[in-house]
Amino acid sequence: MKILVTGSYGQLGRSLFNHLNSNIEVFWTGRNIPFDGNGFYLDICDRINLKELISLNEPDIIINLAALTNVDFCEKNLDLAREINTNGVRNICDAFKGKIVQLSTDYVFDGKNGPYLEEDEVFPLSVYGKTKLEAEKIVMSHNSDNLIIRGNVLYDNCIGSRASFLNWVVQSLREKTPINVVDDQINNPTWAKSMAKIIGLCVEKEISGIYHWGDAEFVSRYKFAKIIAKHYNLETKLINPKSTKEIGQVAPRPLKSGLLSEKIVKILDINQPSINGCLNQILPK
Ligand SMILES: NC(=O)c1ccc[n+]([C@@H]2O[C@H](COP(=O)([O-])OP(=O)(O)OC[C@H]3O[C@@H](n4cnc5c(N)ncnc54)[C@H](OP(=O)(O)O)[C@@H]3O)[C@@H](O)[C@H]2O)c1
Repeated sequence: MKILVTGSYGQLGRSLFNHLNSNIEVFWTGRNIPFDGNGFYLDICDRINLKELISLNEPDIIINLAALTNVDFCEKNLDLAREINTNGVRNICDAFKGKIVQLSTDYVFDGKNGPYLEEDEVFPLSVYGKTKLEAEKIVMSHNSDNLIIRGNVLYDNCIGSRASFLNWVVQSLREKTPINVVDDQINNPTWAKSMAKIIGLCVEKEISGIYHWGDAEFVSRYKFAKIIAKHYNLETKLINPKSTKEIGQVAPRPLKSGLLSEKIVKILDINQPSINGCLNQILPK
């Protein structure tokens, strides 16, 4: 079997490297390939580039991780967000008739009454959520074998990156810098490797449809930051709880959100990991 992965060098793509069965031939692709990466250049907004790469490599499955994921940047750049998150996905569907695995988000919900099941009513508040929901619809009408996995608050140790919530908390507290963290946005933060494992299993078991995957605990960002701080013996007093209103993020956020994952848990017969269990594996204390 051959799989082409888009957006391979982002947070989730890097985690996926070790979670696709070793007998699968994988074409890792991205717009910015690191020096140590062994991939192909692919911009999902470039229809010619897409067509050429697909006809050259003839994948059986495409896993689409490429997206504009900065939620506030999307809010200020609607056209670009739509171009990548929605039209990019349409381009993939136009160029490829096989199975697509599409990553989506809990931001398709309004956060009034979460956590959410797959069949709950969608109502995205932000540009990011709206463009990702449009992509879901395109993917679901393209091929009945297609798979959508919705995730939320993916985290990992991305060395030197302040874009990673985990690294931002750890670095700030190690430098004794106080941080403001929202205490009214509830999710189930999910280790990127936990999500990568699910993608690998879903591919192996040929699962199709819409599924949610999130790790075991539903917590606010503030509580998540405190768990991280305690885990690494850092000063929790430096973490200040703030409301979403006070923080003034550009894009509206679903507040009471998170993803109920019973459907996939049952099918795959797996357990959701705890935050501390994941932190133990991510960084030594
Ligand atoms: N992070 C989360 O909390 C979260 C939660 C739920 C769902 N998801 C979904 O999971 C997927 C992976 O997210 P992630 O956390 O790995 O985000 P990420 O680190 O931002 O990775 C996204 C990747 O897409 C690439 N990309 C952007 N525009 C592209 C284009 N036109 N063509 C090809 N590649 C492009 C980016 O790289 P360049 O800009 O260098 O090209 C980046 O490597 C996304 O679909 C996201 O919506 C993420």
